[in-house]
Amino acid sequence: MSRKVLIAGNWKMNGLIKGSQALAKEIALATKSLKPQAEVLVCPPFTLLTTVKKALRGSRVMLGAQDCHMEEKGAHTGDVSPYMLKDAGCDYVILGHSERRTDHKESSALVKAKAESALKAGLKVIICVGETLDERNKGKALSVTEKQVKDSLPDGATASNTVIAYEPVWAIGTGKTATPQDAQEVHAHIRKVLAQKLSKSVATRMRILYGGSMKPQNASELLNEEDIDGGLIGGASLKAEDFMTIVSKAK
Ligand code: 13P
Repeated sequence: MSRKVLIAGNWKMNGLIKGSQALAKEIALATKSLKPQAEVLVCPPFTLLTTVKKALRGSRVMLGAQDCHMEEKGAHTGDVSPYMLKDAGCDYVILGHSERRTDHKESSALVKAKAESALKAGLKVIICVGETLDERNKGKALSVTEKQVKDSLPDGATASNTVIAYEPVWAIGTGKTATPQDAQEVHAHIRKVLAQKLSKSVATRMRILYGGSMKPQNASELLNEEDIDGGLIGGASLKAEDFMTIVSKAK
């Protein structure tokens, strides 16, 4: 079963209007000329969504946000609803990133509620899961990610509206990457869990991305693994050349 590779850039809390316009334009231009096999997605902070949307115009690079609230609207100071993201031109929203699970104490139940609301708003969701170093050292990588997948997966998830991202917490921003074999082991396990929870056919078609210090030097070997269907790229997505090199590795 061939799954279309997705390479997504998570810009996190980086970027001002000027530099981001240039970055998005470079990515749009390179995508037009390279005509990569992969789908390409960039997820800038909320303040840059409109700017980046404009800069991507005419290209097939998609736009995503990094979080949303679970309600459609109302008295939630500082929050952004999935309907607002859709209105701003987003295709995707990342949910349950470990930085949000840690910094904002987000539970899997909350991630699930947000994801269900995002699907209702017409967005696609990227649900992030992954173990800490302590959990890995205790041999709990599979059980922790399994529980996160089971508890965070929205009702109504299909292979076309939901993507899973496996991001081992200890590999994020540290320069330490999971070995392709370690990542593949977790990805294969996640696919098994998806088959139990959804169906074999949906699990076979649902994409599972790897995230955590993915860069031009290690992208090929990770993307070559059978159950790794793309990448969620942090640091390396802030430089067009690095990001597009990763995009070009996708088969
Ligand atoms: P880095 O690529 O900077 O390790 O970040 C990964 C990540 O958290 C993407 O969501």
